[in-house]
Amino acid sequence: MTETENSKWDAGRFVKTLAYFRVIPFIGSCSWLQRLFGSAPKQKQETSSVVLVAGATGGVGKRVVSRLVKRGYKVRALVRDGKRAKNILGNNVEIVEADITIQETLTSELTKDVTKVICCTGTKVQPVEGDTPKREKYYQGVKFYMPEVVDVPEMVEYKGIENLLEAVGGQLKQNTEKMLFDFRQPTQDLKETWGVLDDVVMGGVSESSIRLVENTALFTGNVSTANSGGFASVRTRNFDPPKDLGGYSGIEMRVKGDGKRYKFILRCQSKWDGVGYCYSFDTVYNIWTTVRIPFDDLIPVFRAKTLEDGKPFDRDRVYSVQLMLSKFEYDRALNPKFSPGFFQLQVEYIKAYGGDNLPLFVMVSSAGVTRPGRPGLNLDEEPPAVRLNDQLGGILTWKLRGEDALRSSGIPYTIIRPCGMTEEAGGKPLIFDRGDNIKGLVSREDIADLCVEVLDIPEANKVTFEVKAAKEGEKQQDLKPLFAALNPDVTS
Ligand SMILES: NC(=O)c1ccc[n+]([C@@H]2O[C@H](COP(=O)([O-])OP(=O)(O)OC[C@H]3O[C@@H](n4cnc5c(N)ncnc54)[C@H](OP(=O)(O)O)[C@@H]3O)[C@@H](O)[C@H]2O)c1
Repeated sequence: MTETENSKWDAGRFVKTLAYFRVIPFIGSCSWLQRLFGSAPKQKQETSSVVLVAGATGGVGKRVVSRLVKRGYKVRALVRDGKRAKNILGNNVEIVEADITIQETLTSELTKDVTKVICCTGTKVQPVEGDTPKREKYYQGVKFYMPEVVDVPEMVEYKGIENLLEAVGGQLKQNTEKMLFDFRQPTQDLKETWGVLDDVVMGGVSESSIRLVENTALFTGNVSTANSGGFASVRTRNFDPPKDLGGYSGIEMRVKGDGKRYKFILRCQSKWDGVGYCYSFDTVYNIWTTVRIPFDDLIPVFRAKTLEDGKPFDRDRVYSVQLMLSKFEYDRALNPKFSPGFFQLQVEYIKAYGGDNLPLFVMVSSAGVTRPGRPGLNLDEEPPAVRLNDQLGGILTWKLRGEDALRSSGIPYTIIRPCGMTEEAGGKPLIFDRGDNIKGLVSREDIADLCVEVLDIPEANKVTFEVKAAKEGEKQQDLKPLFAALNPDVTS
Protein backbone atom coordinates (compact mmCIF):
# COMPACT_ATOMS: atom_id res chain seq x y z
CA MET A 1 0.00 0.00 0.00
CA THR A 2 1.34 3.49 -0.82
CA GLU A 3 1.10 6.73 1.09
CA THR A 4 -1.58 8.09 -1.19
CA GLU A 5 -3.91 5.17 -0.59
CA ASN A 6 -6.72 5.51 1.86
CA SER A 7 -7.67 2.86 4.36
CA LYS A 8 -10.52 2.70 6.83
CA TRP A 9 -9.52 4.58 9.95
CA ASP A 10 -10.51 3.01 13.30
CA ALA A 11 -12.09 5.65 15.57
CA GLY A 12 -12.45 3.12 18.41
CA ARG A 13 -8.72 2.53 18.52
CA PHE A 14 -8.14 6.26 18.44
CA VAL A 15 -10.35 6.83 21.51
CA LYS A 16 -8.86 3.82 23.28
CA THR A 17 -5.34 5.19 22.78
CA LEU A 18 -6.26 8.60 24.17
CA ALA A 19 -8.10 7.02 27.07
CA TYR A 20 -5.14 4.80 27.97
CA PHE A 21 -2.82 7.77 28.18
CA ARG A 22 -5.55 9.84 29.88
CA VAL A 23 -5.44 12.47 27.18
CA ILE A 24 -9.21 12.55 27.47
CA PRO A 25 -9.34 13.34 31.17
CA PHE A 26 -13.00 12.35 31.47
CA ILE A 27 -12.43 8.88 30.12
CA GLY A 28 -9.11 8.61 31.89
CA SER A 29 -10.70 9.15 35.27
CA CYS A 30 -13.99 7.30 34.83
CA SER A 31 -13.78 3.71 35.93
CA TRP A 32 -16.59 2.21 33.79
CA LEU A 33 -15.21 3.88 30.68
CA GLN A 34 -11.80 2.64 31.66
CA ARG A 35 -13.22 -0.86 31.78
CA LEU A 36 -14.71 -0.31 28.35
CA PHE A 37 -11.56 1.12 26.82
CA GLY A 38 -8.80 -0.43 28.85
CA SER A 39 -7.67 -1.45 32.30
CA ALA A 40 -7.90 0.88 35.27
CA PRO A 41 -4.56 2.48 35.94
CA LYS A 42 -2.73 1.62 39.12
CA GLN A 43 -0.13 4.06 40.37
CA LYS A 44 3.22 2.59 41.21
CA GLN A 45 5.60 4.42 43.47
CA GLU A 46 9.34 4.23 42.90
CA THR A 47 10.93 1.91 45.42
CA SER A 48 12.17 4.11 48.20
CA SER A 49 15.89 4.14 48.65
CA VAL A 50 17.49 4.86 51.99
CA VAL A 51 20.36 7.12 52.97
CA LEU A 52 22.30 5.60 55.85
CA VAL A 53 23.88 8.07 58.27
CA ALA A 54 26.58 6.50 60.45
CA GLY A 55 27.48 8.49 63.54
CA ALA A 56 24.02 10.06 63.46
CA THR A 57 24.10 11.11 67.11
CA GLY A 58 27.29 13.13 66.64
CA GLY A 59 27.70 16.88 66.16
CA VAL A 60 27.84 16.63 62.37
CA GLY A 61 25.73 13.46 62.07
CA LYS A 62 22.60 14.86 63.75
CA ARG A 63 22.73 17.93 61.50
CA VAL A 64 23.13 15.74 58.41
CA VAL A 65 20.07 13.74 59.45
CA SER A 66 17.87 16.81 59.86
CA ARG A 67 18.94 18.23 56.50
CA LEU A 68 18.26 14.93 54.72
CA VAL A 69 14.82 14.65 56.31
CA LYS A 70 13.98 18.22 55.27
CA ARG A 71 14.93 17.36 51.70
CA GLY A 72 12.60 14.39 51.72
CA TYR A 73 15.16 11.59 51.86
CA LYS A 74 14.29 8.40 53.67
CA VAL A 75 16.94 8.28 56.40
CA ARG A 76 18.27 5.44 58.51
CA ALA A 77 20.49 6.31 61.47
CA LEU A 78 23.25 3.94 62.56
CA VAL A 79 23.65 4.62 66.29
CA ARG A 80 25.14 2.92 69.31
CA ASP A 81 22.37 3.89 71.71
CA GLY A 82 18.86 3.80 70.26
CA LYS A 83 17.14 5.55 73.16
CA ARG A 84 19.58 8.42 73.19
CA ALA A 85 19.32 8.66 69.41
CA LYS A 86 15.54 8.98 69.56
CA ASN A 87 15.88 11.96 71.90
CA ILE A 88 18.37 13.61 69.59
CA LEU A 89 16.86 12.73 66.21
CA GLY A 90 13.11 12.53 66.85
CA ASN A 91 10.66 10.27 65.07
CA ASN A 92 11.22 11.04 61.40
CA VAL A 93 14.12 8.67 60.98
CA GLU A 94 14.54 4.98 61.26
CA ILE A 95 16.99 4.16 64.02
CA VAL A 96 19.11 1.00 63.97
CA GLU A 97 21.53 0.15 66.75
CA ALA A 98 24.92 -1.03 65.55
CA ASP A 99 28.61 -0.57 66.22
CA ILE A 100 30.87 -0.22 63.22
CA THR A 101 33.71 -1.91 65.08
CA ILE A 102 31.61 -5.08 65.44
CA GLN A 103 30.89 -6.57 62.00
CA GLU A 104 28.06 -8.83 63.24
CA THR A 105 26.01 -5.78 64.23
CA LEU A 106 25.98 -4.51 60.64
CA THR A 107 22.98 -6.62 59.65
CA SER A 108 20.58 -6.58 56.73
CA GLU A 109 18.16 -4.60 58.91
CA LEU A 110 20.74 -1.85 58.74
CA THR A 111 21.72 -2.15 55.08
CA LYS A 112 18.41 -3.01 53.38
CA ASP A 113 17.59 -0.60 50.50
CA VAL A 114 20.54 1.61 51.37
CA THR A 115 21.71 3.43 48.23
CA LYS A 116 23.83 6.16 49.82
CA VAL A 117 25.92 6.45 52.97
CA ILE A 118 27.06 9.52 54.87
CA CYS A 119 29.63 8.50 57.46
CA CYS A 120 30.20 10.97 60.30
CA THR A 121 31.62 8.54 62.82
CA GLY A 122 34.75 9.37 64.77
CA THR A 123 36.66 8.16 67.79
CA LYS A 124 35.17 9.72 70.89
CA VAL A 125 37.56 12.43 72.12
CA GLN A 126 37.11 14.40 75.35
CA PRO A 127 39.06 16.76 77.58
CA VAL A 128 41.29 14.90 80.07
CA GLU A 129 39.55 16.89 82.81
CA GLY A 130 36.17 15.51 81.68
CA ASP A 131 33.27 17.11 79.79
CA THR A 132 29.65 18.09 80.45
CA PRO A 133 26.93 15.54 79.58
CA LYS A 134 26.34 17.48 76.36
CA ARG A 135 30.09 17.40 75.52
CA GLU A 136 30.15 21.17 75.40
CA LYS A 137 33.93 21.45 75.83
CA TYR A 138 34.60 19.07 72.93
CA TYR A 139 32.07 20.64 70.63
CA GLN A 140 32.85 24.36 71.01
CA GLY A 141 36.11 23.88 69.12
CA VAL A 142 37.74 27.24 69.88
CA LYS A 143 39.21 27.02 73.39
CA PHE A 144 41.87 24.30 73.86
CA TYR A 145 41.38 21.53 76.43
CA MET A 146 43.99 18.78 76.67
CA PRO A 147 42.25 15.88 74.84
CA GLU A 148 42.20 12.12 75.33
CA VAL A 149 40.58 9.35 73.29
CA VAL A 150 37.81 7.25 74.83
CA ASP A 151 37.65 4.53 72.14
CA VAL A 152 40.40 2.84 70.13
CA PRO A 153 41.13 4.88 66.96
CA GLU A 154 42.37 1.89 64.96
CA MET A 155 39.03 0.18 65.55
CA VAL A 156 36.75 3.16 64.85
CA GLU A 157 38.63 5.01 62.12
CA TYR A 158 40.00 2.08 60.15
CA LYS A 159 38.47 -1.32 61.01
CA GLY A 160 35.06 0.31 61.47
CA ILE A 161 35.20 1.92 58.02
CA GLU A 162 36.34 -1.38 56.50
CA ASN A 163 33.43 -3.15 58.20
CA LEU A 164 30.94 -0.59 56.92
CA LEU A 165 32.33 -0.82 53.40
CA GLU A 166 32.05 -4.58 53.53
CA ALA A 167 28.46 -4.40 54.75
CA VAL A 168 27.14 -1.94 52.12
CA GLY A 169 29.84 -1.74 49.45
CA GLY A 170 28.41 -4.46 47.22
CA GLN A 171 24.95 -2.97 47.07
CA LEU A 172 26.24 0.58 46.58
CA LYS A 173 28.24 -0.56 43.60
CA GLN A 174 25.18 -2.27 42.16
CA ASN A 175 23.34 1.02 42.41
CA THR A 176 25.51 2.48 39.75
CA GLU A 177 22.73 1.13 37.51
CA LYS A 178 19.01 1.66 37.87
CA MET A 179 16.63 -0.86 36.37
CA LEU A 180 13.57 0.74 34.80
CA PHE A 181 12.06 -2.35 33.19
CA ASP A 182 13.33 -5.87 33.63
CA PHE A 183 11.17 -8.01 31.39
CA ARG A 184 13.22 -11.07 32.33
CA GLN A 185 11.39 -10.95 35.64
CA PRO A 186 7.96 -10.12 34.28
CA THR A 187 5.12 -8.71 36.33
CA GLN A 188 1.62 -7.70 35.34
CA ASP A 189 2.80 -4.08 35.42
CA LEU A 190 3.45 -4.24 31.70
CA LYS A 191 -0.23 -3.81 30.83
CA GLU A 192 -0.70 -1.10 33.37
CA THR A 193 2.39 0.81 32.33
CA TRP A 194 2.84 0.35 28.59
CA GLY A 195 0.24 1.28 26.01
CA VAL A 196 0.06 1.33 22.24
CA LEU A 197 0.44 4.66 20.48
CA ASP A 198 0.20 4.16 16.72
CA ASP A 199 -0.38 6.60 13.88
CA VAL A 200 -4.11 6.09 14.42
CA VAL A 201 -3.86 9.32 16.44
CA MET A 202 -3.09 11.10 13.16
CA GLY A 203 -5.49 9.20 10.92
CA GLY A 204 -3.20 6.28 10.10
CA VAL A 205 -3.90 2.55 10.25
CA SER A 206 -0.66 1.05 11.61
CA GLU A 207 -1.29 -1.40 14.38
CA SER A 208 1.01 -2.67 17.10
CA SER A 209 1.04 -4.36 20.48
CA ILE A 210 3.37 -5.06 23.35
CA ARG A 211 3.23 -8.28 25.34
CA LEU A 212 5.40 -10.55 27.41
CA VAL A 213 6.95 -13.40 25.44
CA GLU A 214 9.73 -15.68 26.72
CA ASN A 215 10.73 -13.27 29.48
CA THR A 216 11.00 -10.36 27.11
CA ALA A 217 8.67 -7.59 26.03
CA LEU A 218 7.71 -8.08 22.41
CA PHE A 219 6.80 -4.92 20.51
CA THR A 220 5.35 -6.10 17.24
CA GLY A 221 2.78 -5.25 14.61
CA ASN A 222 2.18 -4.01 11.15
CA VAL A 223 3.23 -0.54 10.13
CA SER A 224 1.44 1.04 7.21
CA THR A 225 1.96 4.26 5.31
CA ALA A 226 -1.70 4.47 4.29
CA ASN A 227 -3.59 7.69 5.08
CA SER A 228 -0.22 9.51 5.27
CA GLY A 229 0.66 7.48 8.35
CA GLY A 230 3.81 5.47 8.95
CA PHE A 231 4.54 4.86 12.59
CA ALA A 232 3.81 2.39 15.32
CA SER A 233 4.90 2.81 18.90
CA VAL A 234 4.47 1.80 22.51
CA ARG A 235 4.80 4.27 25.33
CA THR A 236 4.55 4.19 29.09
CA ARG A 237 1.97 6.11 31.00
CA ASN A 238 3.55 8.98 32.90
CA PHE A 239 5.54 7.77 35.89
CA ASP A 240 4.22 9.12 39.16
CA PRO A 241 6.47 10.30 40.68
CA PRO A 242 8.73 10.89 37.66
CA LYS A 243 11.92 8.83 37.64
CA ASP A 244 14.98 10.60 38.97
CA LEU A 245 17.87 9.56 36.74
CA GLY A 246 19.98 12.50 37.90
CA GLY A 247 23.10 10.53 38.72
CA TYR A 248 23.15 8.46 35.54
CA SER A 249 24.77 8.91 32.13
CA GLY A 250 22.25 7.25 29.86
CA ILE A 251 19.96 4.36 29.06
CA GLU A 252 20.99 0.81 28.23
CA MET A 253 18.68 -1.65 26.50
CA ARG A 254 19.13 -5.26 25.47
CA VAL A 255 17.22 -5.80 22.25
CA LYS A 256 16.70 -8.29 19.45
CA GLY A 257 15.14 -6.85 16.33
CA ASP A 258 14.55 -7.38 12.66
CA GLY A 259 17.32 -5.26 11.19
CA LYS A 260 15.17 -2.12 11.20
CA ARG A 261 15.96 1.24 12.75
CA TYR A 262 13.85 2.18 15.77
CA LYS A 263 13.55 5.24 17.94
CA PHE A 264 13.84 5.47 21.69
CA ILE A 265 12.13 8.51 23.21
CA LEU A 266 12.14 9.95 26.72
CA ARG A 267 10.02 12.81 28.01
CA CYS A 268 10.83 15.08 30.91
CA GLN A 269 7.51 16.88 30.94
CA SER A 270 4.17 15.37 31.90
CA LYS A 271 2.50 16.79 28.74
CA TRP A 272 1.22 14.07 26.45
CA ASP A 273 1.99 15.88 23.22
CA GLY A 274 5.10 17.73 24.30
CA VAL A 275 8.80 17.65 23.58
CA GLY A 276 10.38 14.22 23.22
CA TYR A 277 14.09 13.43 23.53
CA CYS A 278 14.90 11.00 20.82
CA TYR A 279 17.63 8.57 19.77
CA SER A 280 17.61 6.31 16.72
CA PHE A 281 19.13 2.86 17.02
CA ASP A 282 19.67 0.05 14.55
CA THR A 283 18.87 -3.57 15.24
CA VAL A 284 20.54 -6.66 13.84
CA TYR A 285 18.22 -9.29 12.41
CA ASN A 286 17.51 -11.94 15.04
CA ILE A 287 20.57 -11.14 17.17
CA TRP A 288 20.60 -9.78 20.72
CA THR A 289 22.51 -6.52 21.03
CA THR A 290 23.10 -4.01 23.80
CA VAL A 291 22.17 -0.46 22.91
CA ARG A 292 23.58 2.43 24.95
CA ILE A 293 21.93 5.80 24.67
CA PRO A 294 23.92 8.59 26.34
CA PHE A 295 21.55 11.28 27.65
CA ASP A 296 23.83 13.84 25.99
CA ASP A 297 23.04 12.33 22.57
CA LEU A 298 19.26 12.67 22.87
CA ILE A 299 17.76 14.97 20.24
CA PRO A 300 14.91 17.27 21.37
CA VAL A 301 12.00 16.88 18.96
CA PHE A 302 8.40 17.87 18.66
CA ARG A 303 6.62 15.25 16.54
CA ALA A 304 9.89 14.30 14.79
CA LYS A 305 10.75 17.92 14.07
CA THR A 306 14.04 18.79 15.73
CA LEU A 307 14.00 21.78 18.04
CA GLU A 308 16.99 24.04 17.49
CA ASP A 309 16.51 25.80 20.82
CA GLY A 310 15.12 22.77 22.69
CA LYS A 311 15.79 22.77 26.41
CA PRO A 312 18.41 20.25 27.48
CA PHE A 313 17.04 16.94 28.66
CA ASP A 314 16.22 17.05 32.38
CA ARG A 315 17.35 13.68 33.69
CA ASP A 316 15.98 14.43 37.16
CA ARG A 317 12.39 14.18 35.97
CA VAL A 318 11.73 11.42 33.48
CA TYR A 319 8.01 10.97 32.84
CA SER A 320 7.81 8.41 30.09
CA VAL A 321 9.59 6.01 27.78
CA GLN A 322 8.59 5.27 24.20
CA LEU A 323 9.75 2.83 21.52
CA MET A 324 8.84 3.63 17.93
CA LEU A 325 9.18 2.37 14.40
CA SER A 326 8.70 5.28 12.03
CA LYS A 327 8.97 5.87 8.31
CA PHE A 328 10.61 9.19 9.18
CA GLU A 329 13.82 10.07 10.95
CA TYR A 330 13.86 13.79 11.78
CA ASP A 331 12.58 16.83 9.87
CA ARG A 332 10.86 14.61 7.26
CA ALA A 333 14.07 12.79 6.31
CA LEU A 334 13.27 9.15 5.65
CA ASN A 335 14.34 6.31 7.92
CA PRO A 336 16.81 4.48 5.62
CA LYS A 337 16.00 1.10 7.18
CA PHE A 338 12.23 1.40 7.02
CA SER A 339 9.87 -0.86 5.13
CA PRO A 340 6.14 -1.08 5.71
CA GLY A 341 4.59 -4.29 6.95
CA PHE A 342 5.37 -6.69 9.78
CA PHE A 343 7.99 -5.74 12.36
CA GLN A 344 9.16 -6.99 15.71
CA LEU A 345 11.45 -5.79 18.45
CA GLN A 346 12.12 -7.82 21.57
CA VAL A 347 13.39 -6.05 24.68
CA GLU A 348 14.97 -7.80 27.64
CA TYR A 349 15.52 -4.77 29.87
CA ILE A 350 15.73 -0.99 29.94
CA LYS A 351 17.97 0.52 32.58
CA ALA A 352 19.89 3.67 33.41
CA TYR A 353 23.66 3.22 33.41
CA GLY A 354 26.62 5.29 34.55
CA GLY A 355 25.40 5.99 38.09
CA ASP A 356 28.98 6.13 39.28
CA ASN A 357 28.85 9.81 38.32
CA LEU A 358 27.78 10.90 41.77
CA PRO A 359 29.23 10.14 45.19
CA LEU A 360 27.41 7.33 46.98
CA PHE A 361 29.56 7.25 50.11
CA VAL A 362 30.40 10.53 51.81
CA MET A 363 32.98 10.40 54.58
CA VAL A 364 33.75 13.09 57.12
CA SER A 365 37.46 12.72 57.81
CA SER A 366 39.78 15.49 59.01
CA ALA A 367 42.31 18.00 57.79
CA GLY A 368 45.77 16.97 58.96
CA VAL A 369 45.50 13.23 58.28
CA THR A 370 48.65 13.19 56.14
CA ARG A 371 50.66 15.52 58.36
CA PRO A 372 51.90 13.35 61.26
CA GLY A 373 55.47 12.40 60.40
CA ARG A 374 55.62 14.73 57.40
CA PRO A 375 59.24 15.94 57.00
CA GLY A 376 59.80 19.62 57.75
CA LEU A 377 56.52 20.09 59.61
CA ASN A 378 56.64 22.70 62.39
CA LEU A 379 54.50 20.96 65.02
CA ASP A 380 54.15 24.18 67.06
CA GLU A 381 52.09 25.64 64.25
CA GLU A 382 49.90 22.58 63.82
CA PRO A 383 46.41 22.04 65.30
CA PRO A 384 46.15 19.80 68.43
CA ALA A 385 45.06 16.68 66.55
CA VAL A 386 48.28 16.75 64.47
CA ARG A 387 50.49 17.76 67.37
CA LEU A 388 49.04 15.10 69.67
CA ASN A 389 48.46 12.35 67.10
CA ASP A 390 50.64 9.82 68.96
CA GLN A 391 49.10 10.56 72.37
CA LEU A 392 45.66 10.19 70.76
CA GLY A 393 46.34 6.64 69.59
CA GLY A 394 47.36 7.70 66.07
CA ILE A 395 43.85 9.01 65.42
CA LEU A 396 44.77 10.87 62.22
CA THR A 397 46.96 8.04 60.96
CA TRP A 398 44.07 5.61 61.30
CA LYS A 399 41.66 8.08 59.71
CA LEU A 400 43.96 8.14 56.69
CA ARG A 401 43.85 4.34 56.55
CA GLY A 402 40.06 4.52 56.66
CA GLU A 403 40.10 7.04 53.80
CA ASP A 404 42.41 4.74 51.82
CA ALA A 405 39.97 1.86 52.30
CA LEU A 406 37.16 3.98 50.84
CA ARG A 407 39.27 5.35 47.98
CA SER A 408 40.26 1.85 46.89
CA SER A 409 36.80 0.33 47.38
CA GLY A 410 35.47 1.11 43.90
CA ILE A 411 32.50 2.94 45.42
CA PRO A 412 31.89 6.48 44.15
CA TYR A 413 32.79 8.72 47.11
CA THR A 414 33.58 12.14 48.48
CA ILE A 415 35.97 12.56 51.41
CA ILE A 416 35.52 15.82 53.30
CA ARG A 417 38.42 16.85 55.54
CA PRO A 418 37.20 19.68 57.78
CA CYS A 419 39.65 21.90 59.66
CA GLY A 420 38.76 22.53 63.32
CA MET A 421 34.99 22.33 63.73
CA THR A 422 32.96 24.72 65.83
CA GLU A 423 29.38 25.09 67.01
CA GLU A 424 29.18 28.58 65.56
CA ALA A 425 26.61 29.52 62.93
CA GLY A 426 27.56 28.58 59.39
CA GLY A 427 27.19 30.69 56.31
CA LYS A 428 30.71 32.04 55.74
CA PRO A 429 32.38 31.47 52.35
CA LEU A 430 34.08 28.10 52.18
CA ILE A 431 37.68 27.60 51.14
CA PHE A 432 38.49 24.24 49.57
CA ASP A 433 41.97 22.90 49.17
CA ARG A 434 43.88 19.77 48.32
CA GLY A 435 47.28 18.58 49.55
CA ASP A 436 46.37 18.81 53.25
CA ASN A 437 48.03 22.09 54.12
CA ILE A 438 45.29 24.47 55.28
CA LYS A 439 44.48 25.32 58.90
CA GLY A 440 41.49 27.14 60.27
CA LEU A 441 37.96 26.69 61.52
CA VAL A 442 34.62 25.75 60.01
CA SER A 443 31.12 25.39 61.42
CA ARG A 444 29.56 21.93 61.78
CA GLU A 445 26.50 23.49 60.11
CA ASP A 446 28.49 24.05 56.92
CA ILE A 447 30.04 20.59 57.03
CA ALA A 448 26.58 19.04 57.38
CA ASP A 449 25.37 21.12 54.40
CA LEU A 450 28.34 19.91 52.39
CA CYS A 451 27.70 16.25 53.24
CA VAL A 452 24.20 16.49 51.80
CA GLU A 453 24.92 18.76 48.88
CA VAL A 454 27.73 16.65 47.44
CA LEU A 455 25.24 13.85 46.83
CA ASP A 456 24.04 15.87 43.81
CA ILE A 457 27.38 17.20 42.58
CA PRO A 458 29.15 15.01 40.00
CA GLU A 459 32.25 17.24 40.30
CA ALA A 460 32.54 16.07 43.94
CA ASN A 461 32.84 12.45 42.92
CA LYS A 462 36.14 10.73 43.75
CA VAL A 463 37.41 13.90 45.41
CA THR A 464 39.24 14.20 48.75
CA PHE A 465 39.55 17.79 49.91
CA GLU A 466 40.14 20.02 52.92
CA VAL A 467 37.72 22.75 53.89
CA LYS A 468 37.67 25.77 56.19
CA ALA A 469 35.63 28.93 56.36
CA ALA A 470 36.84 32.37 55.30
CA LYS A 471 36.65 35.05 57.97
CA GLU A 472 34.24 37.37 56.10
CA GLY A 473 31.64 37.24 53.36
CA GLU A 474 28.68 35.20 52.28
CA LYS A 475 28.71 31.48 51.63
CA GLN A 476 28.71 30.46 47.98
CA GLN A 477 25.22 29.55 46.76
CA ASP A 478 26.59 27.16 44.19
CA LEU A 479 29.33 24.82 45.35
CA LYS A 480 29.89 23.25 41.93
CA PRO A 481 32.56 25.76 40.83
CA LEU A 482 34.51 25.07 44.04
CA PHE A 483 34.51 21.37 43.23
CA ALA A 484 35.22 21.96 39.56
CA ALA A 485 38.45 23.69 40.59
CA LEU A 486 39.65 20.54 42.40
CA ASN A 487 41.09 17.58 40.56
CA PRO A 488 39.60 14.16 41.31
CA ASP A 489 41.83 11.79 43.26
CA VAL A 490 44.31 9.70 41.36
CA THR A 491 44.07 6.16 42.70
CA SER A 492 46.40 3.43 41.61
N1 LIG B 1 36.28 18.12 66.38
C1 LIG B 1 36.89 18.65 65.34
O1 LIG B 1 37.34 19.81 65.36
C2 LIG B 1 37.06 17.85 64.09
C3 LIG B 1 37.74 18.41 63.02
C4 LIG B 1 37.84 17.71 61.83
C5 LIG B 1 37.27 16.45 61.72
N2 LIG B 1 36.62 15.90 62.79
C6 LIG B 1 36.02 14.58 62.58
O2 LIG B 1 34.72 14.80 62.04
C7 LIG B 1 33.87 13.70 62.36
C8 LIG B 1 32.58 14.21 62.98
O3 LIG B 1 32.89 15.01 64.09
P1 LIG B 1 31.82 15.26 65.23
O4 LIG B 1 32.28 16.45 65.99
O5 LIG B 1 30.46 15.24 64.66
O6 LIG B 1 32.09 13.96 66.12
P2 LIG B 1 31.18 13.35 67.28
O7 LIG B 1 30.17 14.33 67.72
O8 LIG B 1 32.10 12.77 68.30
O9 LIG B 1 30.40 12.18 66.56
C9 LIG B 1 30.97 10.95 66.28
C10 LIG B 1 29.86 9.96 66.07
O10 LIG B 1 30.43 8.70 65.79
C11 LIG B 1 29.73 7.73 66.56
N3 LIG B 1 30.57 6.57 66.79
C12 LIG B 1 31.77 6.52 67.42
N4 LIG B 1 32.22 5.25 67.45
C13 LIG B 1 31.27 4.49 66.87
C14 LIG B 1 31.15 3.11 66.63
N5 LIG B 1 32.10 2.26 67.00
N6 LIG B 1 30.04 2.66 66.01
C15 LIG B 1 29.08 3.51 65.63
N7 LIG B 1 29.12 4.84 65.84
C16 LIG B 1 30.22 5.32 66.46
C17 LIG B 1 29.37 8.44 67.83
O11 LIG B 1 28.34 7.73 68.48
P3 LIG B 1 27.94 8.00 70.00
O12 LIG B 1 27.02 9.18 69.97
O13 LIG B 1 27.32 6.75 70.41
O14 LIG B 1 29.24 8.31 70.74
C18 LIG B 1 28.95 9.78 67.28
O15 LIG B 1 27.63 9.72 66.83
C19 LIG B 1 34.69 12.80 63.28
O16 LIG B 1 35.28 11.78 62.52
C20 LIG B 1 35.76 13.74 63.79
O17 LIG B 1 36.94 13.03 64.17
C21 LIG B 1 36.50 16.57 63.96
